[in-house]
Amino acid sequence: MRKNIVAGNWKMNKNLQEGLALAKELDATLKGKKVNCDVIIGTPFIHLAKVVEAIDTHKIGVAAQNCADKASGAYTGEVSAEMVASTGAKYVILGHSERRAYYHETPEILKQKVILALANGLTPIFCIGEVLAEREAEKHFEIVKSQLQKSLFELSSEDFSKLILAYEPVWAIGTGKTATPEQAQEMHAFIRKTIAEKYGDEVADNTSILYGGSANASNAKELFANPDVDGGLIGGASLSVDKFMPIIEAF
Ligand code: PGA
Repeated sequence: MRKNIVAGNWKMNKNLQEGLALAKELDATLKGKKVNCDVIIGTPFIHLAKVVEAIDTHKIGVAAQNCADKASGAYTGEVSAEMVASTGAKYVILGHSERRAYYHETPEILKQKVILALANGLTPIFCIGEVLAEREAEKHFEIVKSQLQKSLFELSSEDFSKLILAYEPVWAIGTGKTATPEQAQEMHAFIRKTIAEKYGDEVADNTSILYGGSANASNAKELFANPDVDGGLIGGASLSVDKFMPIIEAF
């Protein structure tokens, strides 16, 4: 059965002390509370090891926001999937539109990152989504399908089953312009159908597909009520417990 998941993506926010304080506050808030979804926080690399030590990782999973497309070696400044895994982090956000746009991560590079993440026991949270011009040209389904095909559809069915997907329309990220629940459901159902065509109904039914893009406390319930929306990847609203908790509790 697929899981409901609320994952925070801190992006390049919070220094180490601030990040640790936020993780500990979330941990304390969740202590003794029963929630109806898995909770994950995606921190900068340098926070990972300390955050893992500071919180109950059975209650809050920890994610990196990227990893290298090479296993090891002379790649100054890069962080490998193995290094991420060695911190105790269990997840890695890959293919975020900011990585694709600002750091020129191609579908081929992302394919390598996914392979290395899986080889090191990490669960990729793989992001797909169209830009505004693509939606306006009614190419959004085609774009999302090709993102899936180019980076993920060479995986075995066993490996594909380990992924979490996040549909993030780029025009909704950090803009305050959320996709409507209907737009989200329509795309999530399309993604699930596309997975079913490749890997069969069982794999498709078991894949968690999160929505991301200006999700917040006031729209999360409506978004999550859709049958194919299995949670959210939350940027801005994951940076404080006050804003993040109501999204977790929207399930
Ligand atoms: P946002 O970011 O919630 O701030 O729009 C979402 C994301 O980029 O993952």
